[in-house]
Amino acid sequence: MNTSTQSGVDIQAPSFVQHPRIISWVSDMVKLCKPSAVHWCDGSEQEYQFLCELLVKAGTFKKLNPLLRPNSFLACSDPSDVARVEDRTFICSKDKNEAGPTNNWMDPDQMRQTLQPLFEGCMKGRTLYVVPFSMGPLNSPISHIGIELSDSPYVAVNMRMMTRMGKAVYDVLGKEGEFVPCIHTVGAPLETGEKDSNWPCNKTKYIVHYPESREIWSFGSGYGGNALLGKKCFALRIASIMGHDEGWLAEHMLILGVTSPEGKKYHVAAAFPSACGKTNFAMLIPPKGFEGWRVTTIGDDIAWIKPGKDGRLYAINPEAGYFGVAPGTNEKTNPNCMKSLTHDVIFTNVALTDNGDVWWEGMGSDPEHCIDWQGKDWTPEIAKATGAKAAHPNARFTISATNNPAIDMAWDDPQGVAIDAFIFGGRRSNTVPLVTEARDWVEGVYMAATMGSETTAAATGAQGVVRRDPFAMIPFAGYNMSDYFQHWLDIGDKLAATGATLPKIFTTNWFTKDADGKFVWPGYSENMRVLKWMIDRLEGRADGVENVFGISPSYSEINWNGLNFTAKLFDQVTQFDKDLIVKELKLHEELFEQLAYHLPKELTRTKVKLEERLNA
Ligand code: OXD
Ligand code: MN
Repeated sequence: MNTSTQSGVDIQAPSFVQHPRIISWVSDMVKLCKPSAVHWCDGSEQEYQFLCELLVKAGTFKKLNPLLRPNSFLACSDPSDVARVEDRTFICSKDKNEAGPTNNWMDPDQMRQTLQPLFEGCMKGRTLYVVPFSMGPLNSPISHIGIELSDSPYVAVNMRMMTRMGKAVYDVLGKEGEFVPCIHTVGAPLETGEKDSNWPCNKTKYIVHYPESREIWSFGSGYGGNALLGKKCFALRIASIMGHDEGWLAEHMLILGVTSPEGKKYHVAAAFPSACGKTNFAMLIPPKGFEGWRVTTIGDDIAWIKPGKDGRLYAINPEAGYFGVAPGTNEKTNPNCMKSLTHDVIFTNVALTDNGDVWWEGMGSDPEHCIDWQGKDWTPEIAKATGAKAAHPNARFTISATNNPAIDMAWDDPQGVAIDAFIFGGRRSNTVPLVTEARDWVEGVYMAATMGSETTAAATGAQGVVRRDPFAMIPFAGYNMSDYFQHWLDIGDKLAATGATLPKIFTTNWFTKDADGKFVWPGYSENMRVLKWMIDRLEGRADGVENVFGISPSYSEINWNGLNFTAKLFDQVTQFDKDLIVKELKLHEELFEQLAYHLPKELTRTKVKLEERLNA
C-alpha cells in the first residue's frame, strides 16, 4: 500500500487501523488538502497531554492555574468565529424537497464544485488529525461510528472529551465496518515561514451535509458545532436521516433518570432549544421538600432512541462529554455543573482572572479585574460604562461526562434506558403555560411541531426573536421537517401496534415574564416540582385539569413544600389568554403553510380540533 503522497507526506496508517477504505479515503483527502503531516489519533491520555502542550505553545490554549483548575485550559477564538453559523449550513440532497424549506440547500454537484477549490491545499503547513470516534457506547446496537479528519488540534482534544475517541473504535470497525466520513478544515493554509494565528479560521464558511452519501464537509470555522462534527452535524443532521431511513430517532434532547424515595426509577428525554437550560435540567438537584428524590444525567444535549423488541423506546447519549454554555452557570443554577468544572476542563471564550482562573457573567461576584475573551482589560467599571462582556454570551466549557457528580449509572449502558416521557420546552415570555400534557401521541407531536422559542446566542444572528422551532430541531433536522413529523407519527403507530404503553408527551415553558419583564417561575431546581407532577401522571396519581391544549396540573397537585409560590403566581404561569392563543394558532397556520409539502394530515386535523375546543 502507498504510504506517502506525491508531496512526500507519510500517511502510513498505524497497525491498529486495518480498514482499507479508511486508509484510501485518508490518502485521497491528503492529496486534496495537502497537509504537511498526518497524525492518526489513538485517544490516549499521553496523546491528549501532547496536543494540549502543542496548543499552549501555539498560543491557542492558556494553561489555567493548576492549583485552582487542575489540568484545565482556556482558548479564546477569533471574534468572527464564536457560534454555529446556521446561514452557512447546508443539506445537499439531490432533490431540494428532501432538505425542505427549513434548511439551506444546494445541489450536491454544485456544492462539490464550490468546495473543491476551497479544500484544494487548505491544510498546507498544518497537520491532519485522523480522529476515530464512536457516537454512543462502543458495541452498542444504538451507536454509530464516524471518522473526522481535521487540521485543528483544538478539535482533536475536544473530540476526545465529547466522544468515545481512540483506537478501540477501529477494533469495532474491523476491516470494513461502516463509518460516517467527516472532513473539517479551519481553511487557513500556512505558507512556509508564515506565522500562525491563535485561532486560525476563514471568513468564508461552509458546513455541508450530503444525505445520500452520509458525508460531512466543514470549511472555515474552528468553533463548536461547526467543527466538532460528531455533535450537531453527525449526531443530529446525518443521524436524523439515518433514523428516518432505519426507523429510529436522533433528537436534540437531554436524557435524565429520576428516582423516587421508594427507589422507583423513571427516564425522561427533554428537548429544549439551544442555550435554554438543558444542561441545568439534566443535572438538577431536587429542592427542599423533595428529600429522597434523585436526578441523574444520562445526556445533556442529544439522544439517539431506538425501539426495543418490547415496544418501548431505548435511548443512549451518543456523546461522552458536555459542551455547555458557561455564562449564567453558578452554584444556584447548576451546582453539579460547577463541581464538574473544577478540573480537566477546556474553556472557550470565558474571561481569565488575575490569578489564572476563569470567570463569566453570572458565575458569582465580579472580579476587580480580568482579561476578557478578546484579550482586553475588563473591570466592573468598564462593563458599566461600555456594556463590555468579560465572557462571550456563547462561551463554552468542554468536560467529560464522567466529571459530572450526578452521572447516571446507566449513562454508558449499550442497551440504553427505556423512556417513560418526552418533554418539549420552549422559551416564551407569554402564551405558553408552565406545563401541559398531550392527550395522546398525535397531540404531542402537534405540540412539539408547533413549538416556538425566543432565539439565543448559541447561533449567530438576532437574539430574543420568537421563531418556530419544531422539536427544538429547526437547525438540526437533516431532512424535510414535514417528513420528520410523519416519522414521529409513524414511530407512534408502530409502538402502539405492539400493545406497549407509549411514553407520555409534555410541553413546558419555564420562561413566562411578568409585566416588569421578570421571570415568574423560579426555574432551575424548582423544575423538579413539574417533573414530579409528570411522574404522578405516569403513575395515575394526579388527575390534572383538561384545557384547550391538553392536561395541566391544578395548584394543589404540585408539591409546594419548601417554596412559597402562591396560587396567584401559579395562575400567572398557567393561564390561557384567548387572544394570545388565537394569535399563536395563526402562527401555527403560517408554519403549516411553509411546511405544506408532505405535511401530515393528522396535524392539520389536530389543529382544527384545538380551534373547535377554543371556540366551544
Ligand atoms: C449546542 C447548541 O451547542 O444547541 O448544544 O447550539
Ligand atoms: Mn444543543
